[in-house]
Amino acid sequence: MVEKPTLEYVNELAAEAAAIVQGFVGEDLNIQHKGRTDLVTRADHASEEYLISRIREDFPDHAINAEEAGKLAGTPAHQWYIDPLDGTLNYAHGLPFYSISIGYAYQGKMELGVVYDPTRKECFSAQNGKGASLNGNPIHVSQNKDLIDCLLATGFPKNIWGSPSDNTANFVQFSKITQSVRRLGSAALDVVSVAAGRVDGFWEMTVNQWDIAAGGLIVREAGGIVTNIFGEPGFLNEPVSIIAANPVIHSKMLEVVKEVRGEK
Ligand code: IPD
Ligand code: CA
Ligand code: CA
Repeated sequence: MVEKPTLEYVNELAAEAAAIVQGFVGEDLNIQHKGRTDLVTRADHASEEYLISRIREDFPDHAINAEEAGKLAGTPAHQWYIDPLDGTLNYAHGLPFYSISIGYAYQGKMELGVVYDPTRKECFSAQNGKGASLNGNPIHVSQNKDLIDCLLATGFPKNIWGSPSDNTANFVQFSKITQSVRRLGSAALDVVSVAAGRVDGFWEMTVNQWDIAAGGLIVREAGGIVTNIFGEPGFLNEPVSIIAANPVIHSKMLEVVKEVRGEK
């Protein structure tokens, strides 16, 4: 087997995982609680087991960071980030907005990213330096330049209340100065919606690497800017947060979150 995966390989993994997830729709999901409002289903486990076993089989020495299994050791030059089902809460309620997110970094740099929406059969993907696409067609971030013309998306931490990063102050402020703010429930799909120009910007204050690794690369390849909430480019550095938007809107969003933090 070759040392590095190809984008076609990752696309295929994502489509297979999506079929597994869809296979459980309408079935007993065996919903378990990881926390009061944090769920996991049979589909999360089955999708992740499939993805890990394929990668382990084809690239036995690669490191994997997957939501349910955690960090699986391997050579750090080859790092995978897997969210086997992003938007579990939506999925568990039968709300069709969820995805599979698979990112691969080579020598510390994001190289491949695929986010697959099983409901719409939409495959968002990118390879470093080669542009971003949706089902094979190139995609680009939006061109809006004023926040008042923008539709934004965001998400909230699972333990939303009582945390200094509960995001409610940002939500209030952005809601007043944009067309609207959506809270859709799948960070990976939110991020690629920026890449496709369907929303102008997305931010979230507390996420995990597996939520945004793939989508972050896809936004950059679609002409957008991705940083953490402080404007630093290493968006996968812990603690992980994100602002992803078209270049003009990204700098305006950064100013707003700074102001909300009381730094201006
Ligand atoms: C969650 C979703 C949600 C975001 C949370 C994530 P999960 O992932 O992406 O939109 O707001 O931060 O944890 O648990 O459904 O994979
Ligand atoms: Ca997730
Ligand atoms: Ca998940």
